[in-house]
Amino acid sequence: MTSSTFSVKSIVRPNILALKPYRCARDDYSSGVLLDANENAYGPALNPSSEAAASSSGLDINRYPDPHQHDLKNLIAKFRDVPGPEHFFLGVGSDEVIDMIFRVFCVPGKDAVLITPPTYGMYSVCAQINDVEVHKATLTLDGQFQLNMEEIEKQINEHPNIKVIFLCSPGNPTGSALTHESIRRVLTLPNYKGIVAVDEAYVDFIDASKEGTTATWVKEYPNLIVMQTMSKSFGLAGVRLGVAITTPEIASYMNATKAPYNIASTTSRVAQEALQPKGLDILHKHISVMVEERNRLLEAFKSIPGLGRVLGTNDANFVLVEVLDKESGKPSNDRAHKVYADMASRQGLVVRFRGTEIGCEGCLRITVGTPEENDVVIQRLTEQLAA
Ligand SMILES: Cc1ncc(COP(=O)(O)O)c(C=O)c1O
Repeated sequence: MTSSTFSVKSIVRPNILALKPYRCARDDYSSGVLLDANENAYGPALNPSSEAAASSSGLDINRYPDPHQHDLKNLIAKFRDVPGPEHFFLGVGSDEVIDMIFRVFCVPGKDAVLITPPTYGMYSVCAQINDVEVHKATLTLDGQFQLNMEEIEKQINEHPNIKVIFLCSPGNPTGSALTHESIRRVLTLPNYKGIVAVDEAYVDFIDASKEGTTATWVKEYPNLIVMQTMSKSFGLAGVRLGVAITTPEIASYMNATKAPYNIASTTSRVAQEALQPKGLDILHKHISVMVEERNRLLEAFKSIPGLGRVLGTNDANFVLVEVLDKESGKPSNDRAHKVYADMASRQGLVVRFRGTEIGCEGCLRITVGTPEENDVVIQRLTEQLAA
Protein backbone atom coordinates (compact mmCIF):
# COMPACT_ATOMS: atom_id res chain seq x y z
CA MET A 1 0.00 0.00 0.00
CA THR A 2 1.29 3.48 -0.83
CA SER A 3 -0.03 6.86 0.31
CA SER A 4 -1.57 7.40 -3.12
CA THR A 5 -3.65 4.20 -2.99
CA PHE A 6 -4.69 4.32 0.66
CA SER A 7 -6.94 6.74 2.44
CA VAL A 8 -6.98 6.46 6.24
CA LYS A 9 -10.12 8.58 6.37
CA SER A 10 -12.00 5.95 4.37
CA ILE A 11 -11.46 3.31 7.08
CA VAL A 12 -11.74 5.34 10.29
CA ARG A 13 -15.15 4.94 11.95
CA PRO A 14 -17.44 7.83 11.00
CA ASN A 15 -18.10 8.72 14.67
CA ILE A 16 -14.35 9.03 15.28
CA LEU A 17 -13.88 11.16 12.16
CA ALA A 18 -16.60 13.46 13.45
CA LEU A 19 -15.22 13.50 17.01
CA LYS A 20 -14.50 16.79 18.68
CA PRO A 21 -11.83 15.69 21.19
CA TYR A 22 -12.19 16.67 24.85
CA ARG A 23 -10.26 19.85 25.49
CA CYS A 24 -9.15 21.13 28.85
CA ALA A 25 -8.08 24.62 29.83
CA ARG A 26 -4.61 23.13 30.47
CA ASP A 27 -4.24 22.52 26.70
CA ASP A 28 -3.98 26.31 26.34
CA TYR A 29 -2.63 27.50 29.73
CA SER A 30 -0.49 25.33 31.98
CA SER A 31 1.10 27.74 34.47
CA GLY A 32 -0.07 30.31 37.01
CA VAL A 33 -2.73 29.87 39.66
CA LEU A 34 -4.36 26.69 38.40
CA LEU A 35 -8.00 26.58 39.45
CA ASP A 36 -9.38 25.19 36.19
CA ALA A 37 -9.48 21.41 36.73
CA ASN A 38 -11.00 20.91 40.19
CA GLU A 39 -7.74 19.45 41.49
CA ASN A 40 -6.75 19.56 45.15
CA ALA A 41 -4.38 22.50 45.68
CA TYR A 42 -3.51 21.32 49.20
CA GLY A 43 -1.51 18.36 47.91
CA PRO A 44 -1.63 14.57 48.09
CA ALA A 45 -3.07 12.76 51.12
CA LEU A 46 0.25 11.02 51.80
CA ASN A 47 2.46 10.76 54.86
CA PRO A 48 5.31 13.12 53.81
CA SER A 49 7.91 10.66 55.11
CA SER A 50 6.42 7.65 53.30
CA GLU A 51 8.07 5.90 50.37
CA ALA A 52 5.10 6.76 48.17
CA ALA A 53 5.62 10.47 48.91
CA ALA A 54 9.37 10.17 48.23
CA SER A 55 8.95 8.32 44.94
CA SER A 56 6.44 10.83 43.63
CA SER A 57 8.20 13.95 44.92
CA GLY A 58 8.52 16.76 42.40
CA LEU A 59 5.77 15.29 40.22
CA ASP A 60 2.92 17.45 41.48
CA ILE A 61 0.73 14.38 41.64
CA ASN A 62 -2.14 16.46 42.98
CA ARG A 63 -2.29 17.77 39.38
CA TYR A 64 -3.49 15.90 36.29
CA PRO A 65 -0.64 14.54 34.16
CA ASP A 66 0.45 15.95 30.82
CA PRO A 67 -2.15 14.71 28.27
CA HIS A 68 0.35 14.89 25.39
CA GLN A 69 3.52 13.35 26.88
CA HIS A 70 5.80 14.98 24.31
CA ASP A 71 8.97 14.53 26.36
CA LEU A 72 8.37 10.81 26.79
CA LYS A 73 7.40 10.40 23.12
CA ASN A 74 10.57 12.26 22.07
CA LEU A 75 12.72 9.86 24.09
CA ILE A 76 11.03 6.79 22.58
CA ALA A 77 11.29 8.35 19.10
CA LYS A 78 15.03 8.78 19.55
CA PHE A 79 15.45 5.24 20.89
CA ARG A 80 13.44 3.68 18.03
CA ASP A 81 14.79 5.98 15.29
CA VAL A 82 11.35 7.38 14.47
CA PRO A 83 11.10 11.07 13.39
CA GLY A 84 9.12 12.58 16.28
CA PRO A 85 6.28 12.63 18.82
CA GLU A 86 3.61 13.06 16.15
CA HIS A 87 4.11 9.36 15.25
CA PHE A 88 2.98 8.13 18.70
CA PHE A 89 0.00 7.10 20.72
CA LEU A 90 0.77 5.98 24.29
CA GLY A 91 -1.54 3.63 26.13
CA VAL A 92 -2.03 1.94 29.48
CA GLY A 93 0.00 -1.07 28.32
CA SER A 94 -0.20 -2.32 24.75
CA ASP A 95 -3.50 -3.86 25.80
CA GLU A 96 -4.96 -0.32 25.64
CA VAL A 97 -3.28 0.19 22.27
CA ILE A 98 -4.97 -2.97 20.95
CA ASP A 99 -8.34 -1.82 22.25
CA MET A 100 -7.82 1.65 20.77
CA ILE A 101 -7.24 0.16 17.33
CA PHE A 102 -10.66 -1.53 17.55
CA ARG A 103 -12.33 1.63 18.78
CA VAL A 104 -10.89 3.79 16.01
CA PHE A 105 -11.31 1.46 13.04
CA CYS A 106 -13.94 -1.22 13.68
CA VAL A 107 -17.66 -0.52 13.62
CA PRO A 108 -19.28 -2.85 16.20
CA GLY A 109 -21.54 -5.48 14.68
CA LYS A 110 -20.26 -4.72 11.17
CA ASP A 111 -16.48 -4.87 10.78
CA ALA A 112 -14.03 -7.72 11.31
CA VAL A 113 -10.35 -8.34 12.06
CA LEU A 114 -7.93 -11.06 10.98
CA ILE A 115 -5.65 -12.84 13.43
CA THR A 116 -3.02 -15.52 12.83
CA PRO A 117 -3.30 -18.27 15.48
CA PRO A 118 -1.65 -19.44 17.58
CA THR A 119 -1.42 -15.87 18.79
CA TYR A 120 -1.91 -13.45 21.67
CA GLY A 121 -5.37 -13.85 23.23
CA MET A 122 -6.21 -10.18 23.73
CA TYR A 123 -6.94 -9.55 20.04
CA SER A 124 -9.96 -11.89 20.27
CA VAL A 125 -10.96 -10.64 23.73
CA CYS A 126 -10.95 -7.02 22.53
CA ALA A 127 -12.83 -8.07 19.40
CA GLN A 128 -15.56 -9.61 21.52
CA ILE A 129 -15.74 -6.61 23.84
CA ASN A 130 -16.09 -4.34 20.81
CA ASP A 131 -18.56 -6.71 19.07
CA VAL A 132 -16.22 -7.24 16.13
CA GLU A 133 -15.98 -10.49 14.17
CA VAL A 134 -12.67 -12.43 14.15
CA HIS A 135 -11.35 -14.31 11.13
CA LYS A 136 -8.32 -16.56 11.30
CA ALA A 137 -5.39 -17.45 9.06
CA THR A 138 -3.40 -20.06 10.97
CA LEU A 139 0.40 -19.74 10.97
CA THR A 140 2.41 -22.47 9.28
CA LEU A 141 2.42 -25.47 11.62
CA ASP A 142 5.81 -26.81 10.52
CA GLY A 143 7.42 -25.71 13.78
CA GLN A 144 8.40 -22.32 12.32
CA PHE A 145 5.08 -20.49 12.83
CA GLN A 146 5.37 -18.15 9.85
CA LEU A 147 2.58 -16.40 7.94
CA ASN A 148 0.52 -18.48 5.54
CA MET A 149 0.11 -15.89 2.78
CA GLU A 150 -2.31 -17.96 0.76
CA GLU A 151 -4.65 -18.28 3.73
CA ILE A 152 -4.35 -14.56 4.56
CA GLU A 153 -5.25 -13.61 0.98
CA LYS A 154 -8.15 -16.06 1.01
CA GLN A 155 -9.57 -14.52 4.20
CA ILE A 156 -9.12 -10.98 2.88
CA ASN A 157 -10.91 -11.85 -0.34
CA GLU A 158 -13.75 -13.68 1.42
CA HIS A 159 -14.31 -11.00 4.07
CA PRO A 160 -14.07 -7.48 2.69
CA ASN A 161 -15.18 -6.16 6.11
CA ILE A 162 -11.75 -6.98 7.61
CA LYS A 163 -10.39 -3.65 8.82
CA VAL A 164 -7.32 -4.74 10.80
CA ILE A 165 -4.82 -7.60 10.44
CA PHE A 166 -3.04 -8.33 13.73
CA LEU A 167 0.45 -9.83 13.30
CA CYS A 168 2.50 -10.75 16.34
CA SER A 169 6.27 -10.72 15.85
CA PRO A 170 7.87 -12.33 17.75
CA GLY A 171 4.69 -14.28 18.35
CA ASN A 172 3.14 -15.25 21.65
CA PRO A 173 3.10 -18.21 22.32
CA THR A 174 5.22 -19.14 19.28
CA GLY A 175 8.34 -17.11 20.03
CA SER A 176 8.85 -16.81 16.25
CA ALA A 177 9.72 -13.50 14.62
CA LEU A 178 7.95 -13.16 11.26
CA THR A 179 10.17 -12.51 8.26
CA HIS A 180 10.26 -8.89 7.16
CA GLU A 181 9.52 -10.02 3.64
CA SER A 182 6.23 -11.60 4.76
CA ILE A 183 5.18 -8.53 6.78
CA ARG A 184 5.85 -6.33 3.74
CA ARG A 185 3.70 -8.65 1.65
CA VAL A 186 0.78 -8.19 4.04
CA LEU A 187 1.29 -4.41 4.05
CA THR A 188 1.06 -4.33 0.27
CA LEU A 189 -1.71 -6.89 -0.38
CA PRO A 190 -3.43 -5.59 -3.52
CA ASN A 191 -6.99 -6.35 -2.35
CA TYR A 192 -6.64 -5.08 1.20
CA LYS A 193 -7.49 -1.53 2.23
CA GLY A 194 -7.17 -1.83 6.01
CA ILE A 195 -4.65 -1.50 8.83
CA VAL A 196 -1.77 -3.89 9.56
CA ALA A 197 -0.98 -3.89 13.29
CA VAL A 198 2.36 -5.50 14.11
CA ASP A 199 2.64 -6.40 17.79
CA GLU A 200 6.33 -6.21 18.71
CA ALA A 201 5.99 -6.75 22.47
CA TYR A 202 9.03 -9.08 22.41
CA VAL A 203 11.03 -7.43 19.63
CA ASP A 204 14.08 -6.58 21.77
CA PHE A 205 14.78 -10.27 22.41
CA ILE A 206 15.39 -11.06 18.73
CA ASP A 207 19.01 -11.98 18.14
CA ALA A 208 20.99 -9.06 16.66
CA SER A 209 21.94 -11.20 13.65
CA LYS A 210 18.26 -11.42 12.61
CA GLU A 211 15.69 -8.88 11.36
CA GLY A 212 14.36 -6.71 14.20
CA THR A 213 11.78 -3.95 14.56
CA THR A 214 9.61 -2.58 11.78
CA ALA A 215 9.04 0.71 13.65
CA THR A 216 10.94 2.83 11.13
CA TRP A 217 8.65 1.59 8.33
CA VAL A 218 5.94 3.99 9.50
CA LYS A 219 7.62 6.57 7.25
CA GLU A 220 7.01 4.25 4.32
CA TYR A 221 3.60 2.55 4.84
CA PRO A 222 0.42 4.58 5.48
CA ASN A 223 -1.44 1.56 6.91
CA LEU A 224 1.07 0.33 9.52
CA ILE A 225 0.73 0.48 13.30
CA VAL A 226 3.63 -0.99 15.28
CA MET A 227 2.81 -1.85 18.89
CA GLN A 228 5.50 -2.04 21.54
CA THR A 229 5.51 -2.14 25.33
CA MET A 230 7.75 -1.35 28.27
CA SER A 231 6.43 -4.48 30.05
CA LYS A 232 8.95 -6.95 28.65
CA SER A 233 12.54 -5.97 27.76
CA PHE A 234 12.39 -2.82 29.92
CA GLY A 235 11.08 -4.79 32.90
CA LEU A 236 8.31 -2.27 33.61
CA ALA A 237 5.12 -4.34 33.45
CA GLY A 238 3.87 -2.63 36.62
CA VAL A 239 3.93 0.92 35.25
CA ARG A 240 1.66 0.03 32.28
CA LEU A 241 3.10 1.78 29.26
CA GLY A 242 2.26 0.62 25.76
CA VAL A 243 3.32 2.36 22.58
CA ALA A 244 1.82 2.67 19.12
CA ILE A 245 4.17 3.92 16.43
CA THR A 246 2.36 4.88 13.24
CA THR A 247 1.72 7.69 10.79
CA PRO A 248 0.92 11.14 12.23
CA GLU A 249 -2.58 10.86 10.78
CA ILE A 250 -3.40 7.53 12.44
CA ALA A 251 -1.76 8.70 15.68
CA SER A 252 -3.96 11.80 15.66
CA TYR A 253 -7.15 9.68 15.55
CA MET A 254 -5.91 7.44 18.36
CA ASN A 255 -4.93 10.43 20.50
CA ALA A 256 -8.27 12.14 19.90
CA THR A 257 -10.11 8.99 21.06
CA LYS A 258 -8.14 8.26 24.26
CA ALA A 259 -9.07 9.38 27.76
CA PRO A 260 -7.34 12.76 28.20
CA TYR A 261 -5.03 11.77 31.07
CA ASN A 262 -4.39 8.07 30.40
CA ILE A 263 -0.67 8.13 31.21
CA ALA A 264 0.03 8.72 34.91
CA SER A 265 2.77 11.15 35.98
CA THR A 266 4.51 8.35 37.88
CA THR A 267 4.42 6.05 34.82
CA SER A 268 5.85 8.80 32.65
CA ARG A 269 8.64 9.58 35.11
CA VAL A 270 9.71 5.93 35.42
CA ALA A 271 9.58 5.37 31.65
CA GLN A 272 11.62 8.52 30.97
CA GLU A 273 14.23 7.37 33.47
CA ALA A 274 14.46 3.98 31.73
CA LEU A 275 15.15 5.76 28.44
CA GLN A 276 18.13 7.69 29.84
CA PRO A 277 21.62 6.34 28.95
CA LYS A 278 21.98 4.51 32.27
CA GLY A 279 18.57 2.87 31.87
CA LEU A 280 19.35 1.82 28.31
CA ASP A 281 22.64 0.39 29.49
CA ILE A 282 20.78 -1.77 32.03
CA LEU A 283 18.18 -2.72 29.38
CA HIS A 284 20.90 -4.03 27.05
CA LYS A 285 22.65 -5.92 29.85
CA HIS A 286 19.39 -7.57 30.92
CA ILE A 287 18.54 -8.51 27.33
CA SER A 288 21.91 -10.13 26.76
CA VAL A 289 21.67 -12.17 29.99
CA MET A 290 18.11 -13.25 29.11
CA VAL A 291 19.21 -14.33 25.63
CA GLU A 292 22.10 -16.33 27.15
CA GLU A 293 19.75 -17.91 29.67
CA ARG A 294 17.24 -18.71 26.93
CA ASN A 295 20.02 -20.56 25.10
CA ARG A 296 20.99 -22.39 28.29
CA LEU A 297 17.38 -23.55 28.79
CA LEU A 298 17.21 -24.69 25.16
CA GLU A 299 20.39 -26.71 25.59
CA ALA A 300 19.24 -28.23 28.90
CA PHE A 301 15.82 -29.19 27.51
CA LYS A 302 17.53 -31.37 24.88
CA SER A 303 18.66 -33.79 27.54
CA ILE A 304 15.53 -33.99 29.71
CA PRO A 305 13.79 -37.29 28.87
CA GLY A 306 10.07 -36.71 28.32
CA LEU A 307 10.48 -33.31 26.70
CA GLY A 308 10.00 -33.17 22.94
CA ARG A 309 10.74 -30.45 20.44
CA VAL A 310 11.14 -26.81 21.25
CA LEU A 311 8.72 -25.11 18.84
CA GLY A 312 9.20 -21.80 17.05
CA THR A 313 12.39 -19.90 16.43
CA ASN A 314 13.02 -18.68 19.98
CA ASP A 315 13.05 -14.95 19.43
CA ALA A 316 11.30 -13.93 22.68
CA ASN A 317 11.92 -14.21 26.44
CA PHE A 318 10.20 -17.57 26.68
CA VAL A 319 10.48 -21.07 25.31
CA LEU A 320 7.64 -23.24 23.97
CA VAL A 321 8.41 -26.89 24.60
CA GLU A 322 6.53 -30.16 24.10
CA VAL A 323 5.87 -32.68 26.87
CA LEU A 324 5.67 -36.23 25.52
CA ASP A 325 3.44 -39.12 26.45
CA LYS A 326 5.41 -41.85 28.26
CA GLU A 327 4.14 -44.71 26.11
CA SER A 328 3.60 -43.26 22.65
CA GLY A 329 6.40 -40.65 22.77
CA LYS A 330 3.98 -38.18 21.15
CA PRO A 331 3.18 -34.67 22.50
CA SER A 332 0.55 -35.08 25.21
CA ASN A 333 -1.82 -32.47 26.59
CA ASP A 334 -2.75 -34.78 29.48
CA ARG A 335 0.81 -35.15 30.65
CA ALA A 336 1.74 -31.52 29.96
CA HIS A 337 -1.25 -30.31 31.96
CA LYS A 338 -0.43 -32.67 34.82
CA VAL A 339 3.19 -31.46 34.92
CA TYR A 340 2.00 -27.85 34.81
CA ALA A 341 -0.59 -28.32 37.57
CA ASP A 342 1.75 -30.35 39.80
CA MET A 343 4.58 -27.86 39.53
CA ALA A 344 2.26 -24.93 40.24
CA SER A 345 0.27 -26.40 43.11
CA ARG A 346 2.92 -28.51 44.86
CA GLN A 347 6.26 -27.01 43.93
CA GLY A 348 5.55 -23.29 43.62
CA LEU A 349 6.75 -23.13 40.01
CA VAL A 350 4.24 -21.52 37.66
CA VAL A 351 4.62 -21.84 33.90
CA ARG A 352 1.88 -21.65 31.25
CA PHE A 353 0.05 -24.63 29.72
CA ARG A 354 -0.53 -23.80 26.05
CA GLY A 355 -1.53 -27.24 24.75
CA THR A 356 -4.99 -26.14 23.61
CA GLU A 357 -3.59 -23.58 21.15
CA ILE A 358 -3.53 -24.74 17.54
CA GLY A 359 -0.17 -26.33 16.66
CA CYS A 360 0.92 -26.39 20.31
CA GLU A 361 -0.19 -29.90 21.37
CA GLY A 362 1.45 -30.87 24.67
CA CYS A 363 3.20 -27.50 25.02
CA LEU A 364 4.32 -25.55 28.04
CA ARG A 365 5.38 -21.92 27.60
CA ILE A 366 8.18 -21.16 30.02
CA THR A 367 9.39 -17.62 30.62
CA VAL A 368 13.16 -17.18 30.90
CA GLY A 369 13.83 -16.25 34.53
CA THR A 370 16.97 -15.48 36.51
CA PRO A 371 19.77 -18.11 36.38
CA GLU A 372 18.59 -19.46 39.75
CA GLU A 373 14.97 -19.64 38.59
CA ASN A 374 16.03 -21.39 35.41
CA ASP A 375 17.97 -23.95 37.45
CA VAL A 376 14.73 -24.63 39.33
CA VAL A 377 12.87 -25.08 36.02
CA ILE A 378 15.44 -27.61 34.77
CA GLN A 379 15.44 -29.50 38.07
CA ARG A 380 11.65 -29.63 38.49
CA LEU A 381 10.99 -30.65 34.90
CA THR A 382 13.60 -33.39 35.16
CA GLU A 383 11.98 -34.69 38.37
CA GLN A 384 8.44 -34.43 37.06
CA LEU A 385 9.18 -36.24 33.85
CA ALA A 386 11.16 -39.00 35.59
CA ALA A 387 8.07 -39.81 37.70
C1 LIG B 1 2.13 -10.26 22.23
C2 LIG B 1 1.73 -9.41 23.38
N1 LIG B 1 1.24 -8.19 23.13
C3 LIG B 1 0.87 -7.38 24.13
C4 LIG B 1 0.98 -7.79 25.45
C5 LIG B 1 0.47 -6.85 26.52
O1 LIG B 1 1.45 -6.06 26.97
P1 LIG B 1 1.19 -4.85 27.97
O2 LIG B 1 1.75 -5.28 29.28
O3 LIG B 1 1.94 -3.72 27.36
O4 LIG B 1 -0.29 -4.59 28.03
C6 LIG B 1 1.48 -9.04 25.76
C7 LIG B 1 1.59 -9.49 27.16
O5 LIG B 1 1.90 -10.57 27.50
C8 LIG B 1 1.87 -9.88 24.70
O6 LIG B 1 2.33 -11.12 24.90
